[in-house]
Amino acid sequence: MKRVSKILKSGLAFIAMLGLAQTTIAGEPKTFEGPKPDLKIESANHLFAEKYPLQYKSWESTKESTEVVSALEEDPRLVVLWSGYAFSKDYNKPRGHFYAVTDVRSILRTGAPKDENSGPMPMACWTCKGPDVPRLIAEKGEVGYFDEKWAKYGSEIVNSIGCADCHDTTSQEFKDGKPALRVARPHVLRALDAIGWKFDTLDKHGKRVAVCANCHVEYYFAGKEKAVTFPWDKGTDVDSIEKYYDEKQFTDWVHGLSKAPMLKAQHPDFEIWSMGTHGKNGVTCIDCHMPKVEDKNGKVYTDHKIGNPFDAFESTCKTCHEQSKESLQKRVAEHKKQVKDVMVRLEDQIVKAHFEAKAAWDANATAEEMKAALQDIRHAQWRWDYAAASHGGYMHAPDVMLRVLGTGLEKASEARAKLAVVLTKHGVATPITYPDISTKEKAQKVIGLDMPKELREKDEFLRTIVPQWEKEAKAKGLLPADEK
Ligand code: HEC
Ligand code: HEC
Ligand code: HEC
Ligand code: HEC
Repeated sequence: MKRVSKILKSGLAFIAMLGLAQTTIAGEPKTFEGPKPDLKIESANHLFAEKYPLQYKSWESTKESTEVVSALEEDPRLVVLWSGYAFSKDYNKPRGHFYAVTDVRSILRTGAPKDENSGPMPMACWTCKGPDVPRLIAEKGEVGYFDEKWAKYGSEIVNSIGCADCHDTTSQEFKDGKPALRVARPHVLRALDAIGWKFDTLDKHGKRVAVCANCHVEYYFAGKEKAVTFPWDKGTDVDSIEKYYDEKQFTDWVHGLSKAPMLKAQHPDFEIWSMGTHGKNGVTCIDCHMPKVEDKNGKVYTDHKIGNPFDAFESTCKTCHEQSKESLQKRVAEHKKQVKDVMVRLEDQIVKAHFEAKAAWDANATAEEMKAALQDIRHAQWRWDYAAASHGGYMHAPDVMLRVLGTGLEKASEARAKLAVVLTKHGVATPITYPDISTKEKAQKVIGLDMPKELREKDEFLRTIVPQWEKEAKAKGLLPADEK
């Protein structure tokens, strides 16, 4: 440990503020912000290529992380867990920031809208995809932005996660090459306030984490406007957020098989990081994912290629740790394996619970008889998803992940015990027979999806609507014009 004392001093001041959730300042808006015509946000990434070649090129090289991995193919249990919800159609693991806009267009979940007012998704689905989002919110106001279908502004949201997501690109500091960090999404600023992280009062370490918390957080779509809202009023751990949703009686969807009132977790990377060893010691996302590096002339700059920190071991882990790359990588791989092992056990239990609940409904169980078990299923799957949706959680806080999953197993076993009683009462022999869900295709058939139709419609959307969006965006200068 070389730098630990320095880290401890600078880090603890702001970390100590986490957990001091102030119920007086709510993350959920009482009123939405109107348009802010004075807040100029320059969102076109290509405009900064020439002035900041080192930062721009490293940012652009996030496109080297190309691989698309279908999480549903890898683990078909997920199809059953998300039955009745669009995630059961298509869900891929994350890849480079460069692809965020491309990927949200092509994922089957966003469907194939034919015009600007057709569904299925709201504008909220663009919210963590790039800097055109804060620009558009400033132009239209929050309601004007959120209260529309996803296809409404397809020709406006075309720049992938970039400069204006983290910097005020019109400021003098940015022009001078010393850009301050900035969060420009009003709902993010409100949520940070709610946990005592008022952005303007944070030190440089706090601000560095906050820019990632723009997107790498748990959120939900609240109210009729479907406005992105962070459920942090009671705290950011799995129990506090569960309590928050329960008190609001919020549900993302009703499960297709069990009819349980479900929650979908997004990606609580910030929350889980803050509870882990590095978070508690003030080691930020930037220390590992955006280290300072040197170009060939010895010029020091921030590496904007956000990816796997092991790829840049000398400038990340090595700045604090004396262990070898191999030994640290092995440790992280072990944590990953341990977390994955418990995660899969929990999935097996919840999948069985969904099928058992369906069998109970089929045997004419009443809503009253089912209520307690369905609530347990809700809580078990919330805990599974809080862990599963945080892709780096096994690295950022393996101990937290294991506790979350352990309590999930408890909830799942409570659900199954209650369901066994209901099934017996209605004359259904246990164990029931569970359908074959050994591949993605089989699982999708079991839950009744018509995949060929989904794929056909998406293909047409990508061939007809998307090129139109891109053409309009080029005409507006949001994307570079085609080379002549
Ligand atoms: C995900 C957030 C994020 C994005 C996206 C981002 N930056 Fe940065 N940028 C940072 C951080 C963090 C620093 C380090 C400075 C700090 O901590 O205050 C930084 C530093 C800089 C600096 C100061 C010099 C240096 O290298 O430290 C420049 C110039 C810069 N960025 C330009 C850009 C440009 C141009 C883009 C778009 C192509 C961009 N940034 C995109 C987060 C971001
Ligand atoms: C504007 C929203 C946004 C911001 C800001 C943001 N991210 Fe992301 N991040 C995403 C999305 C969306 C993806 C998945 C992209 C995809 O798969 O198409 C992603 C993917 C990633 C990945 C996976 C990359 C890969 O190659 O597999 C890492 C690591 C990551 N982000 C870390 C960070 C860190 C660290 C910060 C802060 C410095 C940050 N992100 C800021 C939205 C954001
Ligand atoms: C101590 C270093 C460290 C810190 C601090 C850290 N990360 Fe990571 N993160 C990693 C490593 C290492 C991995 C990849 C582990 C592996 O090799 O499997 C990772 C993985 C990820 C992934 C998953 C990438 C993927 O493709 O699956 C995301 C997303 C991510 N981190 C975001 C963040 C965010 C956001 C923060 C801050 C809130 C953060 N990280 C803080 C080291 C760190
Ligand atoms: C800025 C400094 C810093 C950086 C960069 C950093 N670490 Fe750490 N790391 C720490 C500190 C501080 C601790 C806690 C030490 C303690 O409690 O004794 C720690 C602890 C750990 C532990 C033990 C955690 C546990 O839960 O027991 C592992 C494993 C680890 N780091 C891996 C990594 C890896 C892998 C990277 C690079 C991706 C990395 N660290 C980058 C400062 C850092």
